[in-house]
Amino acid sequence: MRILSVVGARPNFMKIAPVVSELRQVSGVSHRLVHTGQHYDDKLSGTFFEELGLPEPDINLQVGSGSHTWQTAEVMKRLEPVLEEFRPDLVFVVGDVNSTLAATLTAVKLGIPVAHIEAGLRSFDLTMPEEINRKVTDTISELLFVTEQSGVDNLKAEGVSEDRIFLVGNVMIDTLLRHRAIAAKSRMLEKLGVKNGEHILPYGVLTLHRPSNVDQPETLEPLLQAIGELAQEIPVFFPIHPRTMARVRDLNLDHYFGGSNDGSPTGLRALDPLGYLDFLCLMDHSRLVLTDSGGIQEETTALGVPCLTLRNNTERPATVEHGSNQIIGVNPIRIVSAGRHILRNWSRSSRRPPLWDGHAARRILEVVLQQRSCVSANRFQEQRGSEQLV
Ligand code: UD1
Repeated sequence: MRILSVVGARPNFMKIAPVVSELRQVSGVSHRLVHTGQHYDDKLSGTFFEELGLPEPDINLQVGSGSHTWQTAEVMKRLEPVLEEFRPDLVFVVGDVNSTLAATLTAVKLGIPVAHIEAGLRSFDLTMPEEINRKVTDTISELLFVTEQSGVDNLKAEGVSEDRIFLVGNVMIDTLLRHRAIAAKSRMLEKLGVKNGEHILPYGVLTLHRPSNVDQPETLEPLLQAIGELAQEIPVFFPIHPRTMARVRDLNLDHYFGGSNDGSPTGLRALDPLGYLDFLCLMDHSRLVLTDSGGIQEETTALGVPCLTLRNNTERPATVEHGSNQIIGVNPIRIVSAGRHILRNWSRSSRRPPLWDGHAARRILEVVLQQRSCVSANRFQEQRGSEQLV
C-alpha cells in the first residue's frame, strides 16, 4: 500500500507526527511525506520537524507565501506531478490550512482517495479562510477522521454518509501527551525570569495571528491595550507570529510591549515564535492563555490550563463543554474582567473530551488498514479504475 501525507504549515506538523510514527510500525506500507513549503521559516517549520522526530520531507514543494488563491493554485500545480509519479493508494491531509485544501483537490481530481484528519469542525463563519478549507476538504474526502462529537454531528447534518465518518480522538493531543515530559525539561521559564529553583511566578501567554484580529488597527490596538492592562498584574508572554509582527510594525504598536528581566517581570512581553517544546512548557505552567488559535484551545484543554479565546466563535466546542476554554470575543472590558476572574479564582481543570487519550493515530491506522482489507479495497480500486477508463 502506498500512502502519501501532505503538510504545509506549523499546526500540521504536530498532527502528522503521530501518524508517521504509527505508519513506521506497519509492514507493507510505503510512505512519502510532502511539505508544501507554505511555512518556510525555521521557527515555523524546520524546528518542529526536529523536535517532533519527523523525518525530513521526501519532497518540499517550496511554495512560500502569497494570496490564498495563488498559494492554493501553486500547491496544486506542484503536487500534481508528485502524485502522478508515486500513485498513492491514499493521501492523508490534516487540519484546515490552504495546503490541506490544495492537496485534497489535487488528489481527488486524480482519482486518489483522501483521508482528512481533523474533519467535521465548523465555526459556521465563512469569513475564516480555514472554514472554507474545512468544508471543501470534507465534502470530497473519502475517510473523515473526527476529533470530537460536534464534528460527527456537523458532517451528518451536511448529509455525509456515516460509513465515511470515524470519531477517533485528537492526533494533536497524541503529540502533546507524548512530549509533555520532555517539554518539562525546557529552560524557557528560567530564560524568561519566571522560574527560580522550583518556584514558578504566575504569568500568562498570548498568541494572536488571525487576520480578523491582527489586520485591522481598530481590533488589534484595543486587544493589545486590554491585555496590557492584565499584564500589569502578571507578565504576559507573547510569541509573535510573523504576520502579526508585520502588522505591529506597520501600525507602530511596539510601545505596548514592555517588561524587564529584573526579577519581577510584568508587562506584555514580545518574543520570537517559539519551538514546540518551549511553547508547550510555557503553556503548561501558565495561569492563563489568551489566544485566537484553534489548536491552542485544544492543547490548553488537554493541559487543564484556563484559556480565553479571543474570537466570537469556535469550531472546537468540546474545549468549552469538556475543557478549560471560554469564548470571550474581542471586547476589551470583557477580556480584562474574564482574565482577572481567572487569576483570582485560579484552578487547573481535569476535564478532557472523550478519546483525547494519546491513541488517535493508532485508531486512524486501524481504520485505514481495515478499510483497505475489506470494504474500501473495492471502493479505492473502483475509484482508480473509473479514472483509468476516463
Ligand atoms: C496559516 C493558516 C492558519 C494557521 C496558521 C498557523 C491558512 C489559510 N492559514 O496562517 O490556519 O493557523 O498558518 O501559523 O492556511 N510568513 C513568514 N514565514 C513563514 C510563513 C509565513 O514570515 O514561514 C508570513 C508571510 O508574510 C505570509 C504570512 O506570514 O504572508 C502569512 O502566512 P500564511 O501561511 O499565508 O498564513 P498564516 O497566517 O501563517
